[in-house]
Amino acid sequence: MRVVILGSGRGSNAAAILQAQLDGRLGLAQVVGIFADQPEAGILALGPRFGVPAGFVDPAPFKTKLEGPGEDRFIEAIQAAQADLVVLAGFMRVLKPRFLATFAGRIINLHPSLLPSFPGLDAIGQAFRRGVSISGCTVHYVTGEVDGGPILDQQAVRLEPGETLEQVAAKVHAAEHELLPAVIARLSRQALT
Ligand code: GAR
Repeated sequence: MRVVILGSGRGSNAAAILQAQLDGRLGLAQVVGIFADQPEAGILALGPRFGVPAGFVDPAPFKTKLEGPGEDRFIEAIQAAQADLVVLAGFMRVLKPRFLATFAGRIINLHPSLLPSFPGLDAIGQAFRRGVSISGCTVHYVTGEVDGGPILDQQAVRLEPGETLEQVAAKVHAAEHELLPAVIARLSRQALT
């Protein structure tokens, strides 16, 4: 199963996926490309580090959604990589119908809360400020509804009294780094059946 990772930021989850592949924990999946919508995104440094093609794809003209010429460029890059699965790992753009239709049923997203609680931006901060005692992360299929597609799996973390936002975020990220590679490995095995 050929996997392409899309990201916008530091890429700690992409690193976890690539490390899982190195350790033989990614099932039959193989990462074949990393694409970022920000030219300075830390995720792009993982390409040379792990020997995977990585590059900036210009998302213009929009700031928060992927539509029009930028959408075309991403579709072309993913198709050129012959990806079977598109993994959104901190890709901070709303996908539009043409992209969704092109890769229908083959796009998954990681979100840092137990959906359907706390969709949208700053999910960890939202949960922290609400005072929940359990939060976590979710991997789900991507549909036209932002953070709304069918859930593949979730991992919970317990928030202890007195913890700072930074401590909670570190726990959620640690859970993400376990969950996302495990879901990809599972999907790669299901793809065979
Ligand atoms: C992750 O926490 C991921 O769940 C979140 O962005 C972070 C990316 O971190 N995604 C969203 O909030 C999407 N709505 P990373 O670049 O270190 O992997």
